[in-house]
Amino acid sequence: MANFFPRWTNWVPLKVVVCVIVIGCGLTAATWYYATPKYTKVGYQPIQPVPFPHDIHVTQLGMDCRYCHSFVEVAAQSNVPNTATCMNCHTQVAKDNPKLQPVQESWKSGEPVEWVWLYRTVDYVYYNHSAHVNRGISCFTCHGPVNHMSVVHIAQPHSMAWCLDCHRHPENYLRPDDQVFNLDWKPEDVKPAEFVAKYGQPGDTREDFAKKKQLTQAEIGQTLKQRWKITPPTNCQGCHR
Ligand code: HEC
Ligand code: HEC
Ligand code: HEC
Ligand code: HEC
Ligand code: HEC
Repeated sequence: MANFFPRWTNWVPLKVVVCVIVIGCGLTAATWYYATPKYTKVGYQPIQPVPFPHDIHVTQLGMDCRYCHSFVEVAAQSNVPNTATCMNCHTQVAKDNPKLQPVQESWKSGEPVEWVWLYRTVDYVYYNHSAHVNRGISCFTCHGPVNHMSVVHIAQPHSMAWCLDCHRHPENYLRPDDQVFNLDWKPEDVKPAEFVAKYGQPGDTREDFAKKKQLTQAEIGQTLKQRWKITPPTNCQGCHR
């Protein structure tokens, strides 16, 4: 009986196996490096001295971010509140709650609560909060739905590619300036006629935005980008000064 397959095909299964192993290892290593939280830190949620619930304070009690992060609009750094800020309420409210014990101790001793930092930009990068939140970029875009977090975790990678993605296309993220602190805002919430009366619409569009039922993020973003002449830096010196 004639040999149906030529002799070299004996080696095919072995070659396939070797290839699969090599490619498989490469892919695993690459995914590991680029996609896991260890590299991007997304998901990082350290154990805090007090498990401070943003959801209770912001969503249930209706507190504004600026009550505690009072410098976010006016300075490069957005501070974390001191003990006195908590004690505006917690001398009365939940004062025997064991979760608040480190705050009570700090109040007595004068030593600040040792919060663990999550977001830290490296020294050679220049970043400024006020330059962003006064230009229609919400906390939500860079920190995720903090208002629904019972303990804050890292929601965005804050890598250079991530910064640049927005700097090249800010229209994908810009929102009306009175919605920056409203983390639940959606483009569908915008009433087209009111929006156009306040901000106009891009000069190069024919369609009347005011007559549309809804505006998309792209339409809102393009309008605000032109109106406010938004030009985030994409050159190296912009962020590495
Ligand atoms: C009642 C005070 C209070 C309010 C209101 C508040 N925060 Fe916070 N926030 C804190 C405290 C305390 C910490 C530090 C503890 C922690 O990280 O959980 C913190 C931490 C954070 C962090 C992590 C900072 C870091 O890098 O370590 C982010 C981001 C943040 N808050 C965003 C917001 C946003 C957005 C809002 C409004 C939707 C808001 N916070 C409202 C008290 C507050
Ligand atoms: C405007 C008033 C106010 C301020 C300011 C405030 N809290 Fe609260 N906090 C409350 C109220 C109201 C509750 C809900 C109490 C309850 O459910 O018994 C609460 C609940 C808590 C709880 C308990 C949550 C739980 O699951 O039991 C912790 C912890 C807490 N706050 C920490 C803080 C810290 C830390 C600060 C300062 C960064 C702060 N709060 C500032 C009003 C405030
Ligand atoms: C364009 C992205 C961006 C927006 C928008 C933004 N943040 Fe941040 N946030 C950052 C970066 C980057 C850091 C790390 C800053 C550093 O290391 O100096 C940070 C850090 C923080 C910290 C830790 C303290 C600090 O400044 O290092 C807090 C608290 C915080 N942000 C709160 C907020 C709140 C509240 C808002 C909305 C009012 C907000 N951020 C909007 C990017 C952003
Ligand atoms: C979601 C969009 C968005 C993200 C993410 C973002 N930026 Fe920006 N950035 C802007 C906008 C909008 C402006 C304002 C441009 C203007 O005023 O014309 C800006 C301005 C700046 C400026 C110039 C303003 C100044 O203070 O000189 C710097 C520097 C900057 N961003 C750094 C960063 C860095 C670093 C990161 C990442 C850690 C980052 N940005 C992430 C949208 C973003
Ligand atoms: C929009 C802001 C922004 C611009 C513009 C920018 N960078 Fe960066 N760069 C960053 C941030 C943020 C990091 C830190 C990344 C991290 O910690 O993961 C970084 C990190 C770096 C690093 C360290 C290596 C690394 O990848 O972490 C180098 C090198 C670098 N940048 C070079 C450049 C050069 C060259 C340019 C101009 C072509 C440039 N950057 C433009 C924000 C920027």
